Amino acid sequence: MNLFKIIYSGMDKYKDEAEKAVQKAIMQKGRDAGVKLPQTAYALPVIYAITGKKIITVGGLEEALALAGGFVHQGKTLQQALDAGTASAMYCEIIEAVKYTLEENPYPEPLQGHLTDAQIRAFGVALVTQDIPGVPVIIGECKDSHTAASIVKDYQEKGMLTFLVGKVIDQCIAEGVKMGIDLRVIPLGYEIESVIHVVSVAIRASLIFGNVQPGDYQAHKQYTKDRVKAFVNVFSDWDDKIIAAGAAAIELGFPAVTETYINEVPTLLLHQPDNEKTVDTSLEARKIKIKVTKIDAPVGISSAFEGERIRKADMYAEFGGNKTKAFELVRMVDLSEVEDHKIEIIGPDIDTADSIPYRLPLALVIDVAGKLMQEDFEPVLERRLHYFLNYIEGVMHVGQRNISWIRIGKEAYEKGFRLKHLGEVIYAKMRDEFDTVVDKCQVTIYTDAQKVAELEEKIAFPKYVSRDRRLASLTDESVDTFYSCKLCQSFAPAHVCIVTPERLGLCGAVSWLDAKATKELDPHGSAQPVPKEGCLDEKKGIWTEVSKTVAEISQGAVTNVSLYSILEDPMTSCGCFECICGIMPEANGVVIVNREFGEITPTGMTFGELASMTGGGVQTPGFMGHGRHFIGSKKFLYSEGGIARIVWMPKELKNDVAERLNKTAKELYDIDNFTDMICDETIATDSEGVLEYLSEKGHPALEMESII
Ligand code: SF4
Ligand code: NI
Ligand code: NI
Repeated sequence: MNLFKIIYSGMDKYKDEAEKAVQKAIMQKGRDAGVKLPQTAYALPVIYAITGKKIITVGGLEEALALAGGFVHQGKTLQQALDAGTASAMYCEIIEAVKYTLEENPYPEPLQGHLTDAQIRAFGVALVTQDIPGVPVIIGECKDSHTAASIVKDYQEKGMLTFLVGKVIDQCIAEGVKMGIDLRVIPLGYEIESVIHVVSVAIRASLIFGNVQPGDYQAHKQYTKDRVKAFVNVFSDWDDKIIAAGAAAIELGFPAVTETYINEVPTLLLHQPDNEKTVDTSLEARKIKIKVTKIDAPVGISSAFEGERIRKADMYAEFGGNKTKAFELVRMVDLSEVEDHKIEIIGPDIDTADSIPYRLPLALVIDVAGKLMQEDFEPVLERRLHYFLNYIEGVMHVGQRNISWIRIGKEAYEKGFRLKHLGEVIYAKMRDEFDTVVDKCQVTIYTDAQKVAELEEKIAFPKYVSRDRRLASLTDESVDTFYSCKLCQSFAPAHVCIVTPERLGLCGAVSWLDAKATKELDPHGSAQPVPKEGCLDEKKGIWTEVSKTVAEISQGAVTNVSLYSILEDPMTSCGCFECICGIMPEANGVVIVNREFGEITPTGMTFGELASMTGGGVQTPGFMGHGRHFIGSKKFLYSEGGIARIVWMPKELKNDVAERLNKTAKELYDIDNFTDMICDETIATDSEGVLEYLSEKGHPALEMESII
């Protein structure tokens, strides 16, 4: 059979299945019943992106079948065959949507199935920084489980976001591969239809970050091809359904590498029978280059391990976490005071344990020196410790400064991991990520109780205090330079953040000091200084230089920006924001929701739905993506009256920002314990309930000028 015939035959099978599924759904639920994949604002996202039609009812699925039918050709051109791939994708989405409509939980653990919008958004920063360099989709079954695990682990150690479909899932489970959305290895499902859930991720990246219009399929294809570095690996024998799905992938710009020969299409469909070479062939096909830093440690070091947790039962050693004293400090010293790559342990190492878990005090002191190093960069480097340590397979890091909390797992210990390896990782990462400012780095690890206590008193506390003073003195008024950040343009082409001392980047990962350090590290890189000149309106935060810069960097897409307003020319959003703020007119204020909150808000929308109102670098008055830390700032909604406009937040977010928010409210309005006036989901999520609570508490927003 030739390749096209195989694709058409696979497509026919999906078509058949989809038609039967729709019939079944109509019979069991009726045409008016709702159909929706969980927690997405884009209905059936693939069909929505391709056709512009939101399918929201079971009856609507009949229309979806017809829409897919529009791509069904059985002709002789390559495009006709690829169209059949598109039709297959649409049929798969229908099949999967029916599963979610008829079954309570079609993908029980460890399977993932559909990903929510929030889960996709959470990958945003890692994608734009190329911390996630690629997205492998592995389909089928490898010749043995050892091969499967070694390929998947190879991708994982490169930081990739890997999706698994088919028996390869069981093979990875058998080999103990660490899996889950936090570990960047995601078992989608056993049936080939579940592959649509990764197609949906790619397509939603285009809708969410790219702001590509639903219905403009051509533009979506261009976006996924250029910006989503996905590719497919097919193991063992393929069948016609796999090949039809492969055609859909190719149409989106994702090359496929097959173990079993089917055919070859240069750069798109490649044959690689040698499992040892699958990874290299795939990376080449997608032109992915991986920077490798050789680190001397007996365990994996990869950003994919960042989300790994070490549970109590798996724990070998523990530092901090209220059990022992633990702190970390990066300090700038003179070049002459540092011996590069010196790693010293002062006190017992973890192999002296008499009982497990072994609890020790800990001081991590990292001395850095360099001609371009500045004291202002110390906290920037220090905060990276959290990531560097979490990158270690079998190590967990929580907190910062003197609330640092580290766990080392039993497995890591058995593989030979010791304290000096913490030092090796820190050293390598500091030199690698901060090469321009760090010429020399030395790590001293103290576990001697008396020494730790003494150093905390003498060197750590004074440093923390002086940094806090410096941060507190850093206001927008106190500096003459802001920074632009355009890192997210790789996914949101028109988006620009303006980062000021009081307003950090909306991803939450870039503060003014971070931006300043980034500029120093890479003078022509993503962060550039913006002179704070030409103030047109202090209240709204309008500067001619800021607007000019945004116009340049967005290539004319956005020409005017008010830094402190949500209503007039607000700053744009890319899609990876930590929080979304939207107006609640009847309360004369705003609602803020963080990405982690999955339920409905008083605006009648979920985080995902609110978030879908903005993104892709487009200005949307009334909606604003922002970082968590911005909430306690005096500049938050400054133009509309400030933080007094905040009427509702999820409880977790409220608790997280309470201290700063209360302090700011006291200073601005002389209100005590302002957070207590803000409603949350444990009090009310309906308009009436919220209003009742606000008036009961005498919330200031009710007395303010009308917000719209
Ligand atoms: Fe993206 Fe803005 Fe964060 Fe830069 S500061 S990474 S542009 S969200
Ligand atoms: Ni880890
Ligand atoms: Ni972003």
